[in-house]
Amino acid sequence: MSQHASGSSIESVLHETRKFPPAAGFSKSAHMGSMEQYRREYERSIRDPEGFWGEVAGELDWFTKWAKVLDWKAPDAKWFVGGKTNICHNCVDRQVEAGFGAEPAIIWEGEPTGSGGPEVRRISYADLKRDVSRMANVLRSLGVGKGDIVTIYMPMVPELAVAMLACARIGAPHSIIFGGFSAQAIADRVVDAGSRVIITADGGWRRGQIVPLKENVDAACTQTDLIDHVIVLERTGQQIAWHHAPSPANGSKRDHWWHDLVQAASDECACEPMDAEDLLFVLYTSGTTGKPKGIMHTTGGYMVHTYLTSKITFDLHPGIGQVYWCTADIGWITGHSYIVYGVLPNRVPTVMYEGAPNWPGADRFWDIVERHKVTQFYTAPTAIRAFMKWGDEHPKKHDLSSLRVLGTVGEPINPEAWMWYHKVIGGEKCPIVDTWWQTETGGHMITPLPGCTATKPGSCTLPFFGVDAAIVDEQGNERGPNEGGLLAIRKPWPSMLRGILGDRERFIATYWSDIVTKDGTRYYKAGDGARRDEDGYFWVMGRIDDVINVSGHRLGTMEVESALVSHDAVVEAAVVGMPHEIKGTGIAAFCTLAPGFAADDALREALRKHVAGEIGAIAKPDMIRFTDALPKTRSGKIMRRLLRDIAEGKEQAGDTTTLEDLSVLAKLRESKES
Ligand code: WT7
Repeated sequence: MSQHASGSSIESVLHETRKFPPAAGFSKSAHMGSMEQYRREYERSIRDPEGFWGEVAGELDWFTKWAKVLDWKAPDAKWFVGGKTNICHNCVDRQVEAGFGAEPAIIWEGEPTGSGGPEVRRISYADLKRDVSRMANVLRSLGVGKGDIVTIYMPMVPELAVAMLACARIGAPHSIIFGGFSAQAIADRVVDAGSRVIITADGGWRRGQIVPLKENVDAACTQTDLIDHVIVLERTGQQIAWHHAPSPANGSKRDHWWHDLVQAASDECACEPMDAEDLLFVLYTSGTTGKPKGIMHTTGGYMVHTYLTSKITFDLHPGIGQVYWCTADIGWITGHSYIVYGVLPNRVPTVMYEGAPNWPGADRFWDIVERHKVTQFYTAPTAIRAFMKWGDEHPKKHDLSSLRVLGTVGEPINPEAWMWYHKVIGGEKCPIVDTWWQTETGGHMITPLPGCTATKPGSCTLPFFGVDAAIVDEQGNERGPNEGGLLAIRKPWPSMLRGILGDRERFIATYWSDIVTKDGTRYYKAGDGARRDEDGYFWVMGRIDDVINVSGHRLGTMEVESALVSHDAVVEAAVVGMPHEIKGTGIAAFCTLAPGFAADDALREALRKHVAGEIGAIAKPDMIRFTDALPKTRSGKIMRRLLRDIAEGKEQAGDTTTLEDLSVLAKLRESKES
């Protein structure tokens, strides 16, 4: 079932009996001071979700108050029905209007470290309001209106946050594409979203190298004539191609420098009043088919849920000098929700770092924590495992005493990494919040709360307010303590996905069709296998579908297979996950070749490159095996479980009684990569 079974390792069973009480002294000042308070509020949030969420929404600004908190007809939820607001207003204008315009909203640090140290920019709420308003006016002047999807493909620079907030300000949903994705991936997403404008940069810095963002956009534009305008931020100053070609749509030129456009734009731009259910953004994520799906999030519910989870899970308090840092890229949901949208309304500065964790040295993150006195730090298990490997001397060189809360997200954290994080980074005094959630859930769903929840290494512990999580079978029957099952959400929550862009059927089939109770009630299927222990704590084991979690990033095995077979040499491919020390799950590919191609290392390298070109470097297989045939059942299904066993190096591959041709198995074992 699980490809990444850290949650069920012997170590975790041993650690399971070890509970870490909430840090001493924390509870007095924390939003959630005790387990009694959590239980009381949780119980109320489930019994009276409308009362609970209505109160939370009241902490934010609305142009028109909602008439009804929730309208639910599975699988369609409408939250804050009739309410009008703007998330950009709540992130930016609200702070300025309350007199906090001079406070830092974003603290940004570039990757290059010259003789004078790294470039640091502190952007106040007032600066942000000016910059966002200008960009919003620029977008309008290029013909972008409410509902038009704008594609953003940028490095981790403040202008990325400015671009997304500018879109939100005028009601143009954004589709942000992570800078590690390929030209092909950009083209696919642009076409799916029907996007006519792309915001990018000449390049971005990563591990001392330049990522050729503009070049990738140019290549993507050769595959579609949808794009009328490309806005280019100058970041690296390298030479780039420039396209003056008049666009047939409006006769203007295609490429524009960001700095030219904003110079001519006004600082004043009123926020568009958005219906609570107006689309805020689309974010593509991998599923079980070859085609990524555009997950849709709307304005009101997403705003309220990410605001509250940011506040409670990280224990954010404005005005007391907290500095919050999430190390994710904004190109993933973690960055959308927990660098920008959930954090800014809490009026705690959010740190944005442009580059790699080990550039110029393996202590870069700890250097940033020390210099900016970071109080809340949120990262991924894969990063923690890399830090462990690089050695304790790097964090030990730095004063990390400012840290108060540590967070992790993206995959199950193995107890060894948890303990290291707790001891070496947290000095045994910081609560660890292991947050389980997904692109689809928009915000945290199951997580400890600092000052309140006793933690167990490897468990994401208990559900957040309003989240009715359960471990069930396909009929929705709840499983007993420590019995494995499907992780399901039984009631709607504010930041839930509202659909898959342009694919209603897939939305229903993927999330709402596999768990149906006797009386016909549909539960949300997360796609993870999990169990609850005797304390009711959740232990997520990993994906139960053909999705693998590589370094905390989701990839569909079919997506990688499609990329492989699009190469001339490959006739058929099967991709499975395999254990990987740093990535958690690595990618193993089994390929049968067309006649005339030599099964050698040169071809392996060519295929890796090809996959990087089709999807992005994160999808490069870690292992490629060539084989005459793939193991299939008599009905023609590829036996992935068996391939997983082989990829793991298990001598005795599981049950093979349904294997059609047993000789395939022997040959596969000999196919080892040299
Ligand atoms: C999948 C969602 C949510 C932002 C990052 C990933 C896995 C995520 C945890 C956790 C165990 C986790 C699940 C989930 N996952 N967080 N704390 N413990 N597993 O977002 O790309 O949408 O992937 O990541 O398998 O389904 P995503």
